[in-house]
Amino acid sequence: MSEWSPDSWKSKTASQQPTYADQQKLQETLAHLANLPPLVTSWEIESLKEQLAAASCGEAFLLQAGDCCESLDDCHGDAIVRNLKVLMQMSFVLAHGCKKKIIRVGRTAGQYAKPRSAETETRDGVTLPVYRGDIVNRFAFSEEDRQPDPELLLRGYERAALTLNFLRGLCVGGFADLRHPEYWQLEFPSNSPRQKQYDDMVKSITGSLHFMEAVIGTGFGDIGSVEVFTAHEGLHLNYEQAQTRKVPRREGWYNLSTHFPWIGYRTRDVNGAHVEYFRGIENPVGLKVGPQMEPDELTEIVSVLNEKNEPGHITLIHRMGASEIESKLPNLIDAVSKKDQLVTWCSDPMHGNTYTTASGIKTRNFDDILSELLKAFDVHKSCGSVLGGVHLELTGDNVTECVGGSTNVDELDLTKAYKSNVDPRLNYDQSMELAFLIAERMQA
Ligand code: PEP
Ligand code: CO
Repeated sequence: MSEWSPDSWKSKTASQQPTYADQQKLQETLAHLANLPPLVTSWEIESLKEQLAAASCGEAFLLQAGDCCESLDDCHGDAIVRNLKVLMQMSFVLAHGCKKKIIRVGRTAGQYAKPRSAETETRDGVTLPVYRGDIVNRFAFSEEDRQPDPELLLRGYERAALTLNFLRGLCVGGFADLRHPEYWQLEFPSNSPRQKQYDDMVKSITGSLHFMEAVIGTGFGDIGSVEVFTAHEGLHLNYEQAQTRKVPRREGWYNLSTHFPWIGYRTRDVNGAHVEYFRGIENPVGLKVGPQMEPDELTEIVSVLNEKNEPGHITLIHRMGASEIESKLPNLIDAVSKKDQLVTWCSDPMHGNTYTTASGIKTRNFDDILSELLKAFDVHKSCGSVLGGVHLELTGDNVTECVGGSTNVDELDLTKAYKSNVDPRLNYDQSMELAFLIAERMQA
């Protein structure tokens, strides 16, 4: 293979990249970005990689969840707190069910670039560049808003820093104290029958904690803080490159804009620029795997991405769709096993189950999501592999974007609180219900 450098991807075809009118401004912005301090550290990245290696053999479980796409305008305290609360509550439920360490990873602090299926969008006879996420252009449908603007790269980076700064504060302060899960309650009432189950579980756990502390006569050391990692799709290669650095006393290059970047399904070409960029970084890397992926294609990409077959380095996030997972996944698992490739398997039950309603709204059905997840557990069991985690699009907001669940969101409800600019997310009740169902499945 030819020599790798942070910009060697430029010699390959890069799909899903915006076309900037002002190249000089783009270059100046990227130079500026490359000079700003990193958002994460190499030791956090290495720690996550070790934990993902543990998940690959069933000793830990990955909960990767958050927005489909973050927006610059939504970078405010309430939203960050709400999303962290859901992640914490879900991880509590999962840990209680599976008795394993839960690795919390947010789709956050940089999830600003979106792959799109068309280059342009046409409304009432007017055709403009498609919206590619807040780091590229603006959602509003005007000539000016849809022009890719280099300045947005800096705005996105700054918002990512603001988000991460607040998250870090919450994770070490009283908010994250396991003895006070009441701090993580959401402000709105839940109609879900799962709420009582959650409250009872929390009471019993905190009761035991307080009991143990009383008996031992001292507090548990680490219980006042939790660990949360960040992830985003590494789509915008100039942005990712600007954050790719060497660090003292370690070999190799790190992408210091996030702990865990992933390659989207649309940019998985083994000869393409994304795989070229990702093969050179030390971060744990996610790869989306969908129904059109061929077994040989998958093992080839994995061998390029993980030349040293390092455990924890590659997480294969399969998003097959509930109707395809049983026919497509086993061959992929077999191919990877036959080559002794060390990977962590993770189920994304969202992206293969999207459909458009008769009235033109993009949604997903809770039952399909659950069905794909449960099938993922079964398929891995029968193939002798381990499902090491889940990847979800959700929010702590009370939205109505996905139908179904025990609170019965139906197609007519979708217009009530549909806020996502791209993909539909599970709301709080749906997320918690799913956590309980996964926990029950893992317990069984
Ligand atoms: C996503 O995770 O938002 C996404 C676009 O997924 P995929 O690449 O699996 O389609
Ligand atoms: Co999405």
